Amino acid sequence: MKRIVVLTGAGISAESGISTFRDSGGLWEKYDIMEVATPEAWERDPELVNQFYNQRRKQLYEVEPNQAHYALVELEKKYDVRIITQNIDDLHERAGSSKVMHLHGELKKVRSSVDDSLVYDLDGWELKIGEKCELGSQLRPHVVWFGEPVPMIPAAADLTNTADIYLIIGTSLNVYPAAGLVSYVRPGTPVYLIDPGEMNVSHIAGVKHIREKAGAGTRKLADKLLQKG
Ligand code: APR
Repeated sequence: MKRIVVLTGAGISAESGISTFRDSGGLWEKYDIMEVATPEAWERDPELVNQFYNQRRKQLYEVEPNQAHYALVELEKKYDVRIITQNIDDLHERAGSSKVMHLHGELKKVRSSVDDSLVYDLDGWELKIGEKCELGSQLRPHVVWFGEPVPMIPAAADLTNTADIYLIIGTSLNVYPAAGLVSYVRPGTPVYLIDPGEMNVSHIAGVKHIREKAGAGTRKLADKLLQKG
């Protein structure tokens, strides 16, 4: 079975109703990254940071996967599909994708603020200040903040290197180290980028940029790949 490795970003969940970060009207226009998504912000004002993630989590319970998530599930009929997502939502899993790696953490999980290995599923959308891990420290969102290491990067790079076909969907490729994963694609591998944005992708060898929204673009590409595979 040929392997398709897929790198997804906020754009794949946009049609489900989740805001992207850097588009006009995106989250980083409404919030200051430094105020809500850094370890320093958590030190300074855990209430504010926690409220930001509680809102994101609450919204996640109100949305559903879209056509793009489902098209990737269908590809599993003929391909070994491995998803590497920068998203902290769980829409790939809810659509039914079986192999999903989260680079930037998961919104529905929380973890100890003194021991990163103590990760818990949160019941419902609200984490409260005062809720503690088994070691007695405050629980924090299980997300990678700006300035923190991305522990899954080596595994994601290895996986990227095994791709027979590489898909990139809905990411501005602005945030490293995730954006650097494309350099691990083996030379000669077909690479497709589905994103309606104007992007400079000249550094990605042989990439075919499909300038469409994730839903329609992924659906069409999946149909084509399913006919071939
Ligand atoms: N379908 C596909 N792509 C879309 C759609 C859509 N319907 N709508 C917008 N996009 C594209 C935009 O053109 C843009 O290229 O999605 C991309 C979103 O880019 P960003 O907002 O930068 O999101 P992402 O690349 O996922 O951000 C990476 O940055 O803030 C951090 O940790 C956060 O994981 C996130 C990381």
